[in-house]
Amino acid sequence: MSKKIIGFSKLSKQEKIEWICTNYLDDCQADIEILEKYLNTDINIQSIHDAFSENTLSNFYFPFSIAPNFLINNNDYCLPMAIEESSVVAAASNSAKFWYDRGGFIAKTVSIEKIGQIHFLFRGDFKKINSFVNENKTKLINSTSSISLKMKGRGGGINSITLIDKSSEYNNYYQLSISFNTIDSMGANYINSCLEIITKKMIEEIESSNDLTEQEKEINIIMSILSNSTPNCIVEAKAECKIDEIGNINGLNGNEFIEKYFHAIEISKIDLGRAVTNNKGIMNGIDSVLIATGNDFRAVEAAIHSYASKDGKYKGLSECSIDNNIFSIKLKLPIAIGTVGGITDLHPLVKLSHKILGKPNSSSLMEIIAVAGLAQNFGAIKSLITTGIQKGHMKMHLINLLKKYNANEEQINNATDFFKERKITNKAVQDFLNSS
Ligand code: MEV
Repeated sequence: MSKKIIGFSKLSKQEKIEWICTNYLDDCQADIEILEKYLNTDINIQSIHDAFSENTLSNFYFPFSIAPNFLINNNDYCLPMAIEESSVVAAASNSAKFWYDRGGFIAKTVSIEKIGQIHFLFRGDFKKINSFVNENKTKLINSTSSISLKMKGRGGGINSITLIDKSSEYNNYYQLSISFNTIDSMGANYINSCLEIITKKMIEEIESSNDLTEQEKEINIIMSILSNSTPNCIVEAKAECKIDEIGNINGLNGNEFIEKYFHAIEISKIDLGRAVTNNKGIMNGIDSVLIATGNDFRAVEAAIHSYASKDGKYKGLSECSIDNNIFSIKLKLPIAIGTVGGITDLHPLVKLSHKILGKPNSSSLMEIIAVAGLAQNFGAIKSLITTGIQKGHMKMHLINLLKKYNANEEQINNATDFFKERKITNKAVQDFLNSS
């Protein structure tokens, strides 16, 4: 029997739960209890979370952690990180501590441009649509003045409008590419609203144009939407120290360490399999700070991965150089985010994250996030080229395995001792529990 339902969103939360139970769960009393346990007892907080999305039944939470000891541009930071992967915060903290005593991280916002696009089909003379756009640019920009007041007051708004001829790639396809400065907001709503207004104005102006033919006036607007490709919203982070300040790392001396490190980075430039994994490690750091600060991690992920292919081949994003006795690690990538708007003014933990970070503006937050990515990459490679990743990872994951197999408190305490010097695997944990 079909389980199609019309009007699910109109049901109350209770009714939605009942519907799910009846249609998709068998014995659902325990499942209902789980959903209820994850609801917040403070109805104000719960209503904030309910409003973030549609059809909410409960909350789904991540651990909210802190990675201390980040020295960024000579300022101390504790990084709020929301992530479920056991070893990420530990690796970030470890890298932060390592670099703290070696000058910390230096980060710089390079550019902050965001782009909106109006995609349309036009059958006619390119020169004519080009002069139409040039002649009407100011009118198109001014059409957004009512919603641009605040943004302009803060020094932002629309920078420019450019017509791009894409017709050689797709018949009759053109694009208005509109450049924005959204200051401290991510600006998605502002950009999309501007685009819709500009689109409407463009149609009006085309209709009343004396220069375009009737056929040319039949412009077909396909869509108007911001672009998540942000190659001009760029931030750089780096850390460097003298090679002889590196010391002994997990059995490797400074020179052995940097040599292996260098090879690891070079491999990520030529091998796709390694490039993706290298960048995944970077995203561990970036995403967890993005989530904790209420930013759209899907947008940043999409932008960063496309940036990783900017040379026509997907590559590892981090850099490493060894020059004149200086070992240096670097990361340069696009991070389009905001420190106002969206859920940044609503989610209590997000607000707390911003407070912990000293209420940064969006440029400073871009820098902090890039450092989180670089630190994470350093932590991962440092483990990979020395002890291997599993030692630290499984140490952190031990508690999850013990819980999975219903270990009691005594077994958990004993296991921590037992596995200090032993290899942690799924089977080893099961064997330990069976024999204890
Ligand atoms: C695991 O989440 C991330 C790493 O695989 C990253 C890397 O290999 O660089 C450890």
